Amino acid sequence: MPDKPLQEQDFEPALSLGPLTLAYLDEMVEIENLSFASPWSKEAYRKELTENDLAIYVGIFYGSHLIGYAGMWKVLDEGHISNIAIHPNFRGRHFGELLLEYLKQQAILNRIERMTLEVRRSNISAQRLYKRFGFTFAGVRPHYYNDNNEDAFIYWLEIEK
Ligand SMILES: CC(C)(COP(=O)(O)OP(=O)(O)OC[C@H]1O[C@@H](n2cnc3c(N)ncnc32)[C@H](O)[C@@H]1OP(=O)(O)O)[C@@H](O)C(=O)NCCC(=O)NCCS
Repeated sequence: MPDKPLQEQDFEPALSLGPLTLAYLDEMVEIENLSFASPWSKEAYRKELTENDLAIYVGIFYGSHLIGYAGMWKVLDEGHISNIAIHPNFRGRHFGELLLEYLKQQAILNRIERMTLEVRRSNISAQRLYKRFGFTFAGVRPHYYNDNNEDAFIYWLEIEK
């Protein structure tokens, strides 16, 4: 028997996955700004979380802090991934993969049969993650990104039942 009862501070903050709520909007925007050349605005994300009935957003949390998020729009039986980002201090630990797995579970719950996304041609680490996860390359949208005219690569994932 331990000689004193366990205190909350004796525990490491736990990693968890869950739906993303407005309470995390500020942390979400901070990660967004650290992650993208043309970040979405706070207002855009507020609308995503409160007004867009087609949007499914999930987060990955370390203790009470958001460390990454992903979003998807349900279009008929397709899930169009709008964004995925992990805080720079937490990258390279496969948290992106955990987040994608959780998003896929939400897709299954929402009767989504396939998921798709666009990624910059130059974003090699994201592409490696998607391929490792089972996404397959399906084509190019030339000059898709306005900020630097970069091509988008399109990926799809069939969800197995
Ligand atoms: C893409 C992203 C979500 C991946 O998340 P992640 O948790 O770092 O993913 P993983 O750990 O599973 O894999 C990332 C790859 O980067 C490598 N890596 C290692 N340390 C890293 C670091 N400090 N920062 C970035 N990547 C790192 C990993 O080894 C892995 O490479 P590998 O495929 O050769 O093994 C994350 O890099 C990110 O938020 N990027 C900026 C936003 C973005 O580009 N989103 C995708 C838009 S389509």
